[in-house]
Amino acid sequence: MDTMLVAHWYAPEEVKEIADYVGDSLGLIQAVQKEQPKRLVFAGVRFMSETAKVMLPDTEIIQPDFESTCSLVTQTNIDELKKFRDDNQDSTHVMYINSSVEMKVLADIIVTSANVNAIVENEIKNGNKVIFSPDKNMGTYINKEFGYDMKVFTSVCEVHDQFNVEYLKQEMRSWTDGIKYVIAHPESPIDLLEMADFIGSTNKMLEWVKNFPNKVGTIWVATEGGLINDMKKARPELDIRPALGYNGCQCNQCPYMKRNTLEAVNAAMAGTGGTSIDYLTNDLIDAARKPIERMLNYTIE
Ligand code: 13P
Ligand code: SF4
Repeated sequence: MDTMLVAHWYAPEEVKEIADYVGDSLGLIQAVQKEQPKRLVFAGVRFMSETAKVMLPDTEIIQPDFESTCSLVTQTNIDELKKFRDDNQDSTHVMYINSSVEMKVLADIIVTSANVNAIVENEIKNGNKVIFSPDKNMGTYINKEFGYDMKVFTSVCEVHDQFNVEYLKQEMRSWTDGIKYVIAHPESPIDLLEMADFIGSTNKMLEWVKNFPNKVGTIWVATEGGLINDMKKARPELDIRPALGYNGCQCNQCPYMKRNTLEAVNAAMAGTGGTSIDYLTNDLIDAARKPIERMLNYTIE
């Protein structure tokens, strides 16, 4: 394939419709590694395009809108992250993939929302001390899940962090009919995750909805609105609703993902727009590849 177009579930609908592959962070890297395209247009956020560049340094990778960053990157001060790592030299530094290349070189292993539980659990089972960055909510959730007390960095996803458990409970109480479920992405606040029936990556949440055994039911979903559209398309007979944010707002849109408009993507495909991810030095690429490869080759012992 000469130019491959991939999109994350949170990309604009019209972009997902023309993409060669749509998926979660893990699925996206695996898809581009399998295809090995000469050119790749990546309708996700910038850390995703940079991760693809680290794994496919000979591919020309185009970010349709270069400002499409992620709050887990912008909230993370690199010196504080270095100190976090240096103060805990005896621990395995597990880092969420929502991180810049400069952050990734400070990690021992990268994880995504699809494999974080299995990888951290296995590290703990093997007797390793673990620290986790940069997502505070995901780290807190993993600690609760395994009764563990790993040190956790402090950044959050500005979209998921605003989901509010009190508003959600209030709305659920006012719903008198049928079976009610809550599913959530692990970037959501811990009090909401504690009441969720299912927690997982975007791919896993979509699978859960596709396999939902009943013909009726109301499902509140704590994640970005783009994925909720795909859930509704997959199971139109179900009542699938967004979880509420503070003040009851329905502000579940990632402003960074949505910057990759159809116009920006078409220009990137045509070679008349977008930004080439050509600014990473070979040293940075080589150093960041190690913890990503460790994740991709991870075997659970
Ligand atoms: P997934 O890997 O689960 O798609 O998550 C990526 C992300 O940025 C969620 O906010
Ligand atoms: Fe980053 Fe949150 Fe947007 Fe995902 S939804 S890309 S974590 S800001």
